[in-house]
Amino acid sequence: MVKILGVSGSPRKAATEYALKQALEAAEEVPGVTTEFISLGGKKINFCIHCDRCIKEGAISCVIHKDDMSNLYQPFYDADGYIFASPVYDMGITGQLATYFNRFRPVYTLLKQNPRYFSSKVGGAIAVGGTRNGGQECTLNNILGFYYTNGILAVSGGMGVYHGACVWSQDRKAQGAEEDLLGIKNVRFIGKRVAETAVMVKAGVMALQSETNRAG
Ligand SMILES: Cc1cc2nc3c(=O)[nH]c(=O)nc-3n(C[C@H](O)[C@H](O)[C@H](O)COP(=O)(O)O)c2cc1C
Repeated sequence: MVKILGVSGSPRKAATEYALKQALEAAEEVPGVTTEFISLGGKKINFCIHCDRCIKEGAISCVIHKDDMSNLYQPFYDADGYIFASPVYDMGITGQLATYFNRFRPVYTLLKQNPRYFSSKVGGAIAVGGTRNGGQECTLNNILGFYYTNGILAVSGGMGVYHGACVWSQDRKAQGAEEDLLGIKNVRFIGKRVAETAVMVKAGVMALQSETNRAG
């Protein structure tokens, strides 16, 4: 099975959660795909303080904070693909999502052990703004930056969906997002594309492995 992890960076159960769940539903239409949904809403996640103790101690999770992040490392490490969705806050991702991303500093340890750890994992992005052109594309770039820095393959939506799906909620929570028909169509497209790409990459990794074994 291929596992797609969806993370909502909204503090509320509203437009972003609605959009992300649409994407995950579309992802599950791809045979062999399962999904997991995580909301950062209500979670207590402290800032990374750049002490680098995780790196010094060779840990793959934070060694100083005991907070809700402790349970969020493993789902991230185990997934084959990701869909991160954020409300647009000041033309960028929310503080919640930025803090979650920053807390993956210990990934450095993982990549030191295996530089290709994330090279066969894929990711897509969703941004939900209150205004039509409120910074959704800047927000998508924040999410894609996280993929690039970790060596995760960023999945483009292709023609018209470019670097991810943009939704206009009109500041009316899930109802507003639902009414953005094009936005939700693109959200579902990116969900399906992430799932299909994750399946293809996983099959490709196995093919490469067997070719390598055959070559001796
Ligand atoms: C602090 C804050 C900053 C915001 N900044 C923007 C913005 O720059 N552009 C925009 O289009 N909407 C902005 N919004 C509106 C939200 O992006 C919008 O309501 C979105 O649907 C919220 O997602 P949610 O419904 O999942 O909580 C902002 C909202 C808040 C609370």
